[in-house]
Amino acid sequence: MSFDANAHRESSLENWEEAASGWVRRQEELRELAAPVSHWMIEAINPQPGQRVLELAAGLGETGLLAAELLTPVGGVLISDQAEAMLTGARERASSLGLTNVELKVLNAEWIDLPLASVDAVLCRWGYMLMADPATALSETRRVLRPGGRVALAVWDTLEQNPWAQLPAQELSERGLAGAGAAAPGPFTLASAERVSELLKGAGFAEIRIETLELVRRHRSFDDFWEITLDLSRSFHDVVLDQPEAQIAEIRASLEHRFAPFTSSAGELVIPARTLVAAAEA
Ligand SMILES: C[S@@+](CC[C@H](N)C(=O)[O-])C[C@H]1O[C@@H](n2cnc3c(N)ncnc32)[C@H](O)[C@@H]1O
Repeated sequence: MSFDANAHRESSLENWEEAASGWVRRQEELRELAAPVSHWMIEAINPQPGQRVLELAAGLGETGLLAAELLTPVGGVLISDQAEAMLTGARERASSLGLTNVELKVLNAEWIDLPLASVDAVLCRWGYMLMADPATALSETRRVLRPGGRVALAVWDTLEQNPWAQLPAQELSERGLAGAGAAAPGPFTLASAERVSELLKGAGFAEIRIETLELVRRHRSFDDFWEITLDLSRSFHDVVLDQPEAQIAEIRASLEHRFAPFTSSAGELVIPARTLVAAAEA
């Protein structure tokens, strides 16, 4: 690893603790965007009554809570994340859904504090690519799965396939405001079906299936896109809001111009997004 893994772990934890309030504010938009991904993952693990499902890097636990609804009244879900503040959001959502078969636990996916073969399935949506050592996280995932248990995961496809992230990244980089070094893990680090397959095989998984899903981000206006990006991306938020007011206004105007080609005839922003989804058997 040509980056400082422990420094990455520390800053990741801090960033996600801070990002949680924005994620809670935007949970409905996120749910709508990501629903096809969660549905693919749930179908891939095919939860059965009585089973125990673990969600890793769960954030607000959207996918795990869908599984919990299918497992109720027997069987349940353990929703986990490194960030306590994310789990607070997940707890509120579970209680608003009236779910009683949900446990929550702070866990780091690189060293899962659970016994060998203790869960029937694992879900991890947009988590592994952010970890300092995804190979270890996948080995840990396999260790806690019972033999024959399934993992389902999602990682973003390339930056080029995800202009919602590519254009802001270009804007910052052209202004010399780019974030972490290229070697550090980030949303697009595992944007390759070959790499995901290699990691799953390396962790001992079999029956590997990988697909791409096309998603659409819809925003009422550029303003809406700007606000949601500040809410969801801590790195964008911190870099942009650290600039003097005049420069923030310049960044905003330039980004609005970059996104103009994505404006629909109704004046909405309609931005494509693409994710990889994968499933495999322990
Ligand atoms: C992009 S968010 C995705 C949240 C959720 N899975 C979803 O799809 O909405 C990434 C989440 O991964 C968590 N995370 C990152 N690295 C982790 C690790 N090593 N162990 C546990 N959680 C981690 C973060 O705290 C954050 O909540």
